[in-house]
Amino acid sequence: MRKSVETAFEGITLYPGFLDGSGQRALLAAILEGLTAEKPYRPRMPRTGKPWSIHQMNFGPLGWVSQPEGYGYAELNEASGRPWPPIPPLLLDIWADVANYPAPPECCLVNLYDAPKARMGLHRDEDEEALDAPVVSISLGDTCVFRIGGFARGDRSRSFRLASGDVLVLGGASRLRYHGVDRIIPGSSQLVPGGGRINLTLRRVTKPA
Ligand code: SIN
Ligand code: FE2
Repeated sequence: MRKSVETAFEGITLYPGFLDGSGQRALLAAILEGLTAEKPYRPRMPRTGKPWSIHQMNFGPLGWVSQPEGYGYAELNEASGRPWPPIPPLLLDIWADVANYPAPPECCLVNLYDAPKARMGLHRDEDEEALDAPVVSISLGDTCVFRIGGFARGDRSRSFRLASGDVLVLGGASRLRYHGVDRIIPGSSQLVPGGGRINLTLRRVTKPA
């Protein structure tokens, strides 16, 4: 079992350095290979259609999408009309190690923080039916300042850093907490060619039969 640290929140476990340098390089290679098959795109905000500051892509039978019509899961990549590439086996292994859930993830949302000002506002991951499954987040590249709050947007929040190779499990009593990314610390890692941060979140969407 890898070493985890307690966070201030029940149901949130942080595994600092879950992936060592070679593990991070192997996972990055698998991700970059998947991203050559389907090109990352800039999601659009519901209603306004305004583009986000990050790029996104998905792996797996279902992909999380943000479109003017709203948030949800889709079987096809609207940009290409094709299914999303499969979830790399290295990610399925991480899920099997830390999720403590009897079924595999169906979605890996890839968030690419590739601009210096890229961030993600406070939000809840609530588009999944299987809310008994955790969201497993893997960070590669530049460190970010990650923020976790309560169950209402204005609740008190606290921040901590997520570095390359860290794995964060958001589940149990904290599954629906607000969270987001305040900022990226440019130049804090040399892993990703050209810099920036890649975040991978593994999600079980449907309830297992
Ligand atoms: C997310 O909440 O979907 C992503 C969080 C992160 O980038 O660490
Ligand atoms: Fe999220």
